[in-house]
Amino acid sequence: MKVMEIIGGKDLTGTIRISGAKNATVALIPAAILTDEEATICNVPEITDTDALCDILKALKVDVKRASESVVINPKDMENIEIAEEYSKKLRASYYFMGALLGKYKKAVMYFPGGCSIGARPIDLHLKGFEALGATVKNEKNKYIVEAKELKGANIYLDIASVGATINIMLAAVKAKGKTVIDNAAKEPEIVNVATFLNNMGAKISGAGTSTIKIEGVDYLHQCFHEVIPDRIEAGTYIIIGALCGSPLKIDNLIPEHLDALISKLEEIGVDLEIGTDYVITNKKDTYKSTTIKTAVYPGFPTDLQQPFTVLQTQCNGKSKTVETIWENRFMHIPYLNKLGADITVKNQTATILGPTPLKGDDVVATDLRAGAAMVAAALKAEGKTTITNVEHILRGYESIIEKLTSVGAKISLKDV
Ligand code: EPZ
Repeated sequence: MKVMEIIGGKDLTGTIRISGAKNATVALIPAAILTDEEATICNVPEITDTDALCDILKALKVDVKRASESVVINPKDMENIEIAEEYSKKLRASYYFMGALLGKYKKAVMYFPGGCSIGARPIDLHLKGFEALGATVKNEKNKYIVEAKELKGANIYLDIASVGATINIMLAAVKAKGKTVIDNAAKEPEIVNVATFLNNMGAKISGAGTSTIKIEGVDYLHQCFHEVIPDRIEAGTYIIIGALCGSPLKIDNLIPEHLDALISKLEEIGVDLEIGTDYVITNKKDTYKSTTIKTAVYPGFPTDLQQPFTVLQTQCNGKSKTVETIWENRFMHIPYLNKLGADITVKNQTATILGPTPLKGDDVVATDLRAGAAMVAAALKAEGKTTITNVEHILRGYESIIEKLTSVGAKISLKDV
């Protein structure tokens, strides 16, 4: 078992470079099978979620080559075989193979996807979208068989602006006959990145990044070269760490507009920020003003930054609140923050944080990916040693986290125990 050990209380100085976005990469890799030619995706983060998707490609007999920061995918000899349960369960984003295989072969067979236990995480909207395009869905225990004689464009209204359903329906619809309109589509930058990739291959998608996406089906998608956008959640995590420990800390290679909601909250509580065209520099302060955040779909405050942000709220003066509206189970980090010295109570979907409280190292658990990021942020601020278990969650989403933090002065290591 691997654990992360952090000796906290150190100032962090230097530059951290942001990697390609996990939540774009995990859709781009399955999307690449929609062509029969070669797709090169660069700025791909080296995280275990990338490895898991490449393993699925290999199981489907797709040729996959990884060079530094890029993945070259050639599906010319691919076979549409059932995706085994062990692969489907490895990560949430395996569900993008449903849309991509349905789009390409009119048939997909796989199992219910895995991922962090942050809520029920149903896929009903994905399946309803496939059905609207003409597919039938059979569900035998955990196995899904989705198939269609022909996919036909349709008007689809999403009851919830779901990131996964928006992308999955796009993947199935790019080669359907006629026009598909997705209303109440999610607007996250990762969706725009995937739509750009598909358009570079010859798809006809307009409106990505707005709540109405239109897709004119095409017969053939060709080879292409594409770059993954910077990871706004990784960037936000390190900016929060900068507000806690930066002296100064520069977070480089990001798109500040993708972080507007976070930046405006940081400004509100008084964080010292310099915002450049593609970087943010932060300097820690002793305390901040308290604030309330409420998670929402993009461009609202991202649920994926809520957990790291609560660590910053422990250093705010007075009563702060965090209201989680996307996932039912995203406060699993709170008992561990309290173990480190925070004063937080959770009622229903709201955490109330009283601060400022000094943090002191202890043994904690990364219960999910962003809870793990919150543990890292808290441990860097805390005096003394913190040991984090279940670190595989963190390694799923943060490329070279040990190296990046070590390079700016953190005392952090991974140990086999
Ligand atoms: C994506 O999950 C991200 N994952 C999540 O990031 C992120 O938290 C989430 O979007 C919201 O921003 C990936 O991109 C791989 P949703 P996704 O469908 O697509 C409900 C991280 O830490 N819903 O937008 O699965 C659902 O239960 C991860 O990087 C349905 O009811 O999220 C939730 O309440 C965790 N039925 C809400 O919609 C459906 O069919 C939003 O989920 C689909 C979703």
